[in-house]
Amino acid sequence: MEQKVKTSFTIRGAEFGNRVFVASGTFGYGDEVRELVDVNRLGGIFTKSLSWKMRSGNPPQRIVETASGMLNSIGLANIGVHAFIEQKLPYLRSLQTQILVNIAASSIQEFCDILELLEQQEGIAGYEINVSCPNVKEGGLNFGTDCSMTAEITKRLRTLTQKPLIIKLTPNVTHISEFARAVEDAGADAVSVINTLIGMAVDVKTRKPKLSTVTGGLSGPAMKPVALAKVYEVSQSVKIPIFGIGGIASVEDAVEFLLVGATAVQIGTMNFIDPAISVKIADGLMYYARENDISDIASLVGALDADVKFSVLQSWL
Ligand code: DHB
Repeated sequence: MEQKVKTSFTIRGAEFGNRVFVASGTFGYGDEVRELVDVNRLGGIFTKSLSWKMRSGNPPQRIVETASGMLNSIGLANIGVHAFIEQKLPYLRSLQTQILVNIAASSIQEFCDILELLEQQEGIAGYEINVSCPNVKEGGLNFGTDCSMTAEITKRLRTLTQKPLIIKLTPNVTHISEFARAVEDAGADAVSVINTLIGMAVDVKTRKPKLSTVTGGLSGPAMKPVALAKVYEVSQSVKIPIFGIGGIASVEDAVEFLLVGATAVQIGTMNFIDPAISVKIADGLMYYARENDISDIASLVGALDADVKFSVLQSWL
């Protein structure tokens, strides 16, 4: 008989069937791939960021390919929370997977207004708060690189919901663990680590930046080693669960993130190459566990066998 593997886990009472999720902004609102992917086999879907009003985003060029990653400067293009509720949520709530709504805003009040409106709707498991978009003038990184602001947003939103509140942290700070500790103290249930790294690309013929906004967010396999180190740093600093994100393209990549302390993982940029990759990784993780006599994926979380002689991290923690 095949060994049964426990894949599920809970955060603040919300149960997730497995530890593989699709990352915000890389999967639309889940409906574009309904013919291609059985999203019910995922732990959950993080939606594209929602603002109060629709946003058309930044002018082109807003996506550029680099050697092992992607640069984007979408500028939080989205349909707005009202259209989301009317047009997207009915389909999303019919799914057998958990829906986590990502929220982006340019003021604390806007964050609160969006969350309060979503609280009145059925079918939302929790919220991911985007305080780390690198591509907008207001909100975004000027919130996410300010530790007391990030904590304040968390504290205010905490008073408005009993559902899981997940704060998505930027790596574009000196010590991400300080931010993780601040949001844990402010009542966050989990953190997503990491958002994109600021990057840029130049066209040498025209001598112009390739992105209309000059800089953008780097994602994809290029960022995996950085993301692993950030997840490790955060896992040494807080007790709340971590959603590990950054260039995950295989089961082995996902296992690496779990070992350094991620409770679950999000697949982002690789969805653009294979929209079914997250489901393949979710299935593959179960086979990996079975083959390695692991009865509960939880036993991989933080199971890194590190005999630390020296790591620059030690002095920051
Ligand atoms: C956007 C880009 C990001 O890299 C991100 O993390 C969030 C939002 C955007 O431009 O929409």
